[in-house]
Amino acid sequence: MSSETYKVAAVERYTGNAEDYVLAELPRPQLTTATQVEIEVHAASLNPIDYKRAKGMLSALQPDTFPLKVGYDVAGVVTKAGDGVTRFKPGDRVYGRVGERDGGTIAEWMVAEESALGHIPGSVSFATAAAVPLAGLTALQALDAAGLQRGQSLFVSAGMGGVGMFAVALAKHHFGAAVIATTVSAAKREAAEEMGATKVIDYKTEDYTLVLKDLVDVGFDTTGDSNIYKAIKQGGQAVSVAMMPDGATLDGFRNPDAPLSLFASAKLAAIKCVADGVQWFTTRRLRAKGIGYRYLLMKPDGKALEAVFNPLLESGTLVPAISSEHPFTEAGVRAAFKESIAGHATGKIVVKVRD
Ligand SMILES: NC(=O)c1ccc[n+]([C@@H]2O[C@H](COP(=O)([O-])OP(=O)(O)OC[C@H]3O[C@@H](n4cnc5c(N)ncnc54)[C@H](OP(=O)(O)O)[C@@H]3O)[C@@H](O)[C@H]2O)c1
Repeated sequence: MSSETYKVAAVERYTGNAEDYVLAELPRPQLTTATQVEIEVHAASLNPIDYKRAKGMLSALQPDTFPLKVGYDVAGVVTKAGDGVTRFKPGDRVYGRVGERDGGTIAEWMVAEESALGHIPGSVSFATAAAVPLAGLTALQALDAAGLQRGQSLFVSAGMGGVGMFAVALAKHHFGAAVIATTVSAAKREAAEEMGATKVIDYKTEDYTLVLKDLVDVGFDTTGDSNIYKAIKQGGQAVSVAMMPDGATLDGFRNPDAPLSLFASAKLAAIKCVADGVQWFTTRRLRAKGIGYRYLLMKPDGKALEAVFNPLLESGTLVPAISSEHPFTEAGVRAAFKESIAGHATGKIVVKVRD
């Protein structure tokens, strides 16, 4: 392979089949702004948005070009820094959830805005660091948005999914919640307790809305379940990252550099109206109970990674569960996506690109 090209995990058309993922050989990405860095990728982790985008689920929001590069979470070493970069220099170990225009982290190399990146603390491995950014920041931003306070009670669904696991751990170690209830299937009970859950409900045999009826201050939905209002006290707070977003939030899924044709803009406006209608309908019972509700779309934030996650990772207080690690081969990438698409990971799925 020429040094002018690199390998990156991609799909060549919209597909929901893990066997269709390939390692595309493309021209190596270049710095295009003064505030970007080039990263030699060591590890990347998967998130559901990767296979959803590859499936075309966001195609109405913006035109994709193929091969469509996948992956938003990265851990690696800075190899070049733009003139305007102030926090990083070549040789620094970094991790982050990159922005929409920089996607394609399951790759040998990539470029990313420095604002999305944080330094990897101490001896934390690349695989562990790669597991954190998207899911960890989602949990942090969602619990912040819901205003979770010290001593309050929280319910978070899927407490050993990528986002749920970080929500449980942050509720305990960052927000100081007194009660942290979550749903998992039986095999994940112990892991959820180790992560910090104080009440673990097996969602296959028990109905959390009955167990927790009107009990919690804050409900955090990660599975798209509008029944969460049943577990929340009158006047409590709910936040979801998995129900239908409102129309205005849909813009956050778009690459701002990808212009829309007039027809595509009109279609997007219609989709936004439908999204507002669906959200109004699915959340009507939350409002009827006086529960504050918002859909949260996470944003990259390298400084928050350093401020909140670095101390927890470095001290060993937070040890993210890694469901599986896969090599950076076509077979490895396909196995990783097969597991992600199946939706039963325990924590995060990682692709190791370099040792
Ligand atoms: N809005 C945003 O900014 C944002 C950001 C991140 C993620 N998301 C969305 O949030 C959702 C969760 O993401 P994720 O990364 O956490 O997904 P994930 O890691 O793939 O979730 C898999 C986990 O969900 C559990 N699960 C599935 N159905 C469940 C149920 N009914 N009750 C309890 N647990 C259940 C599975 O456990 P079992 O094996 O026991 O079933 C598994 O542990 C996805 O839809 C994703 O697209 C949105």
